[in-house]
Amino acid sequence: MDYKKYIAEKINVEGVSKEELYELIALPPNLEMGDYALPCFKFAKLLRKSPVMIAEQLKGEIATDEVISEVSAVNGYLNFKINKDGFVRATLDKILLEKDKFGASNEGNGKTICIDYSSINIAKPFHIGHLSTTVLGGALYRIFNYLGYKAVGINHLGDYGTQFGKLISAYKRWGDKDVIEQGGIRALNELYVKFHREAEEHPEYEDEARAYFKKIEQGDEECLALFHWFKDLTLKDVQKIYDMLDIRFDSYAGESFYSDKMQPIVDELREKGLLIESRGAQVVDLEEYGMSPCIILKSDGSSLYATRDMAAATYRKNTYDFYKCLYVVAYQQNLHFKQFFKVLEMMGKDWAKDLVHVAYGMVSLEEGTMSTRKGNVVFLEDVINKCIEKAYTIIDEKNPDLENKMDVAKKVGVGAVIFGALYNNKIKDIVFSYDKVLTFDGETSVYVQYTCARAASVLQKGGMPESFEIPSLSAQEIELVKALATFPETVKGAAEKYEPSMIARFAVDVSQKFNKFYFDCKILAAEDEKTKNFRLALTGATLQALKNAFALLGIGIPDKM
Ligand code: ARG
Repeated sequence: MDYKKYIAEKINVEGVSKEELYELIALPPNLEMGDYALPCFKFAKLLRKSPVMIAEQLKGEIATDEVISEVSAVNGYLNFKINKDGFVRATLDKILLEKDKFGASNEGNGKTICIDYSSINIAKPFHIGHLSTTVLGGALYRIFNYLGYKAVGINHLGDYGTQFGKLISAYKRWGDKDVIEQGGIRALNELYVKFHREAEEHPEYEDEARAYFKKIEQGDEECLALFHWFKDLTLKDVQKIYDMLDIRFDSYAGESFYSDKMQPIVDELREKGLLIESRGAQVVDLEEYGMSPCIILKSDGSSLYATRDMAAATYRKNTYDFYKCLYVVAYQQNLHFKQFFKVLEMMGKDWAKDLVHVAYGMVSLEEGTMSTRKGNVVFLEDVINKCIEKAYTIIDEKNPDLENKMDVAKKVGVGAVIFGALYNNKIKDIVFSYDKVLTFDGETSVYVQYTCARAASVLQKGGMPESFEIPSLSAQEIELVKALATFPETVKGAAEKYEPSMIARFAVDVSQKFNKFYFDCKILAAEDEKTKNFRLALTGATLQALKNAFALLGIGIPDKM
């Protein structure tokens, strides 16, 4: 039952829609005030009355019933107490009935959402900077699917540009097939770094590289074969990480895929009179919008990142007919997205409004500058492995007899990396700290996982009751149920705001409330059978909700810890 909706239906404010009322109704900070509250401040201007008077008047108009047990007006707030027994019953029944569908909906049915995320660069390190786009995108992918949308995950590979000519040049000069096969991305990156070092002394290498890139573009067999080899090696390497993080894509159409799809865009821009020449290049002037020009073609006629993105957006619209197309990319690229979204709009593409840049902040490591020194990048794989190792040490210390310690350490370690990137509002820069993400009693994934293990162990001992009745309820129990009841709204909000952190916060909040309940109320040794059964059911519902939340974030939950 949606109590907010129920309450909104009961209130009548002239000139304010039920939807607006629904949005305004909030959860008050403490139970004494009520279970839901409507702030009346926004209506003051409209009704030409003080918020206090409005709240008083509305109070007089609303009768209590089997759902609403009390209405009060305090300082401009209209507070509602709801019938706790009914609320608790309905919430637990819903969770235990819907199980792993609790929080899901079909609001997105018939709508497709393209999500461009992770979007790695071929032959370049998959480093800590790619963590956020990968796990944020992965979470959004699952969240939208959960809400009935058809999510299309796209890895817009950076597989186009002179760097591939450089790689071929370097490989031909210094490369060794076996070394590259074995070393994957790291070996390719070493070649690339070597090329740059050597080219400082031998500028002619740069010309050679350009020539090789041209050959790739012209379809030269040998160069193309090398290019595909680099690409396959990179994808194979990266797949290991995607498997660990439970990341999936429906398409790997990268930048080179659009090589033959840009001409129509350029033609259309020219036809519509949007292209102008500027220092030999073809650009779209964006001064009117306070932006630097969007460069479409360089003076030598070659395309740019933006040109390929415009072709990609058009292709996606034609192929998927998306409702929205998201780009999960760092805020450093804000201008790029603003520019090409605007150019598409100027071309008269009405769907340009459905392109969304989901920007996020930077991730750096606590040990900081040392790791970012030239040629010394922090590979994401190393960060994940280090977290797993640390998790193993902690688990081994706390519970040496645990079975499958390595499996548990993997779930804990990988979870810590994902959660570390997802817990904060996405636009914030984060400093990744191994110790912080692995704290057992902080706002961490391992805290949530540990809570789940605790709940699972209680259920194993007590068993899940066939049915239950509502006993006299404690504040701890009500608080926990209220937190659980917010899950469907939380998932919806996370999708609307592109903010998986809301789900991460839900999980921590529920865990804290469960632990309070666990320590203050006896479950297995409850005073009577009725109370015990209810508490077991509440424990089962909590575990279910936490599992659903973590599944959306891509974090596993060990059975035992
Ligand atoms: N490969 C790019 C980078 O690493 C990100 C691509 C993002 N997606 C896009 N359609 N531009 O910076």
